[in-house]
Amino acid sequence: MRPLQRLHFLLATKNRGKVREIRSALSGFNIEFESLPRPDDLPQPREEGSTFAENARLKAKHYYRLTGIATLAEDSGLLVDALGGEPGVRSARFAPTDKERIEKLLKMLDSIPGEVQRSARFVSALCLFQPDGVIEVSAEVHGQIARKPRGGHGFGYDPVFYYPPRRKTFAEMSTREKNQVSHRARALKKLRRCLKVES
Ligand code: IMP
Repeated sequence: MRPLQRLHFLLATKNRGKVREIRSALSGFNIEFESLPRPDDLPQPREEGSTFAENARLKAKHYYRLTGIATLAEDSGLLVDALGGEPGVRSARFAPTDKERIEKLLKMLDSIPGEVQRSARFVSALCLFQPDGVIEVSAEVHGQIARKPRGGHGFGYDPVFYYPPRRKTFAEMSTREKNQVSHRARALKKLRRCLKVES
């Protein structure tokens, strides 16, 4: 059942790829988003948690306290089995740019002797911090690290995240297709259920 009132959240991320996917996954539901004010206007949250869930909560709480607006934050990353779960919560800080992060990841896998298992997963943790309580959900998607980047869509590690059921990397998928299978879309689906805006 849809709530009578339209829900209004602050979307606490500056990552354009995430914003595009979150807006697309929640379009058609009774939710309206506000973007973060201009970059310099508010102090940055400290992302010093040891889990995605902790970081999502830190970000959501930070912006909720500053703005008084119910805030949705997301923390996500890539965990590669052969690297013991690296880059994990450090996914964004693994190297300075997306290109360098991908190069570093491929180099690390290539430097492991023998046939390397390239299994990996993306994890997305969402936190909605609002006056009447906090909602926390998370989800993941399993795939493999491709030998070289492929595709021009998406962001971050998408060009090397190969999703076997579709025989494509995430960067070879449109936003719509990625939103049918991704960690973020799965977490957003759980959030919609908690908010009772599921159609
Ligand atoms: P966050 O903004 O601290 O959550 O950092 C997330 C980082 O993980 C991003 O900078 C990306 O490098 C990576 N990441 C998370 N989700 C995705 C995804 O859907 N595709 C590609 N990279 C992702």
